[in-house]
This record gives sequence, C-alpha cells and structure tokens, in this order.
Amino acid sequence: MDKYRLHFGFKRLSEQSRHRRFLHSKQELNKTELRFLTHPDGEFHVALGMVEQTLLGFGGKGIGVGRYIRLHYKPDSAEVSLTVADAYQGRGVGKLLLAYLAKVAMDDGVQRFLFYTLGDNRPTKHLLQRTGWEMDNEIEAGAITFDAQLAPSQYLTNAITAAKQSNRNK
Ligand SMILES: CC(C)(COP(=O)(O)OP(=O)(O)OC[C@H]1O[C@@H](n2cnc3c(N)ncnc32)[C@H](O)[C@@H]1OP(=O)(O)O)[C@@H](O)C(=O)NCCC(=O)NCCS
Repeated sequence: MDKYRLHFGFKRLSEQSRHRRFLHSKQELNKTELRFLTHPDGEFHVALGMVEQTLLGFGGKGIGVGRYIRLHYKPDSAEVSLTVADAYQGRGVGKLLLAYLAKVAMDDGVQRFLFYTLGDNRPTKHLLQRTGWEMDNEIEAGAITFDAQLAPSQYLTNAITAAKQSNRNK
C-alpha cells in the first residue's frame, strides 16, 4: 500500500468523510498511523486499494481503501473500515471493496465483520443492510457497532460480476 497515495488521498477527503471514517474530527494522519495503515501483514491486517486508471498505466490517484484488522482476543472476528474518495462515492466502489474484502476474509477463516459507524452514516447502513448478512447491532453515544456474520452475499457477488463485465467492455 502506497504511503503517498494514502497521505494525499486522506488530504482530499471531505471533513464529513474523515469524520465518518475515524468517528471523530481528524485533520491528518501522523507518521505512525501512515506506517501502520500502509503495512498490512496480509493475515491479521488486510488492506485492498483501488486507484484511478491512467493512460500511462501508473500514477493514478487513490479512489478507495477497504481494510480489516482481526481482533487479537478473537481472531475470527475483524474490524472493517471502508473509505472512498468523495468524488467517487455513490458509484459502486464501496460495495466492490467490501465484496473483495469479504471474499478474502472468508477464504482466510474470518467469520465476523465489525463495523463502527456514526448513527447518521446512511451510505454505510444501506450498504450493510443490502449484503443480507445476519447482523447484531449495538448503539452507544451516537455510534453503532454492526457485528455481521459473514456469508456468501448475492448482492456482493453481483458487484464483482458487474465490475468484471464493465472492465471487459472497456
Ligand atoms: C460508506 C462508503 C465507503 C460507501 O462507499 P460508496 O462507494 O459511496 O458506496 P456505493 O456506491 O458502493 O453504494 C453502496 C450502496 O449504498 C447506497 N448509497 C450510497 N450513498 C448513499 C446515501 N448517501 N444514502 C443512502 N444510500 C446510499 C448505494 O445506492 C448502494 O446501494 P444499492 O446497491 O442498493 O444502490 C463511502 O460513502 C465512504 O467512504 N464514506 C466515508 C467514510 C465512511 O463512512 N466509512 C465507513 C465507516 S466503516
């Protein structure tokens, strides 16, 4: 995962998106956070990024990142975060990132995904509800924790199929 893309991608995020991602107002990522976020180990910490396609085939800006981090005390559960650049929100990127994350997670023995969201985060609530996953939720001080039992989801499978089809048509 590219440190510069993440740094500048974060800088371009709106205040609302940063707030929704980190659950508090956040102006920048410090060195320690950047290092942590760009060094997933592929087992406990898995991150998937999407970048813009360019004519040269490199140098595209970051579009979105999805990651999960397993809980140390319960490694078959993982905390998930999704971030899509504001200009790309509402275009299917979030659901595609979640679809691939869930695929990797299930193949690797993760059984539950946890999402910490603000109560007014409608896109995330809608996305989770559309997965069809069985979910517990806990509301505390304006934030909601969704605890989802991972299972194959037609909604997410369709997102992957649609993305592959659209790539083939380019
Ligand atoms: C949440 C987030 C990742 C969703 O990504 P996205 O690319 O905008 O979402 P998608 O385009 O894939 O849409 C997923 C679903 O949500 C719906 N949706 C998108 N924006 C919505 C909105 N403002 N209100 C209600 N539903 C919305 C879409 O219609 C789609 O549902 P559908 O398949 O039934 O049509 C993105 O908005 C984001 O980065 N937000 C800021 C950070 C954040 O909130 N992270 C989540 C914390 S874990």
